[in-house]
Amino acid sequence: MYTSAPTDATPSEKRKAWTVPMLADAKREGRKLVMLTAYDASFARTMDAAGTDLVLVGDSLGMVVQGHASTLPVTAADMAYHTACVARGLSKALLIADLPFGSDATPERALDASIALLRAGAAMVKIEGAGEHKLEAIRFLVEREIPVCAHLGLTPQSVLRLGGYKLQGRDDATAAKLRSDARAVAAAGAALLVLECVPTGLAEAITADLAIPTIGIGAGPHCDGQVLVLHDLLGVNSGHRRPKFVKDFLAEGGSVAGAFAAYGQAVRDGSFPDAAHSYD
Ligand code: KIV
Repeated sequence: MYTSAPTDATPSEKRKAWTVPMLADAKREGRKLVMLTAYDASFARTMDAAGTDLVLVGDSLGMVVQGHASTLPVTAADMAYHTACVARGLSKALLIADLPFGSDATPERALDASIALLRAGAAMVKIEGAGEHKLEAIRFLVEREIPVCAHLGLTPQSVLRLGGYKLQGRDDATAAKLRSDARAVAAAGAALLVLECVPTGLAEAITADLAIPTIGIGAGPHCDGQVLVLHDLLGVNSGHRRPKFVKDFLAEGGSVAGAFAAYGQAVRDGSFPDAAHSYD
């Protein structure tokens, strides 16, 4: 039973606040990165105290907070509002915020949306996909001192083209494309890469290919870190199908703080995700 946080060896007040260059250090040193999504100050404060390394204000807020069927309706103003709320709850974790659908359609629009997110307290913005205009946006932002996290595999903003939320990179051709996309976003300047819903072996190969850390969600245990959506980790029914990779840590942790601590411990000791929460 996890009743207090953090279970990490380093007490909260002694931990250093995360900075972007520390991400590459963590990969070099083989330290697993623990990431969760948050949308408000109170949950953010609780996960920060539990030793969560990275907090993502995901555009998943469109589904789990606003009740939409997809992330597509989320606006740049929604993202800035929730990013400011979460920022007020954090003292140590690195805050990452999503560029929502359409806000990265041109480098200039991506820059405006990113500046709003950084002003709201984010240290890094996340961009889905690796199409040519996405690579251009990554380069454009990085050249202007805006750290970028890329996101490949299942990219929820592509749901209309993909026809649903499905495992990506299942055959040799799509796996090879994902591997080259991963190299391309890293070469464009991304400092972190989220891999969503890809087979374990493919995520392992991509992780080995890159100097930047990978963060998996439904991507097996070999990524450099893991992320879960807050509501999924707490077993809250958000009205959407529960994917295979989701685990309810509230049952194990006994409290919200305990759930965050249990999740952090399981990511760091490599016990999450296991085969039952990963794709072959
Ligand atoms: O929007 C989100 O919460 C995300 C995570 C699932 C990685 O992008």
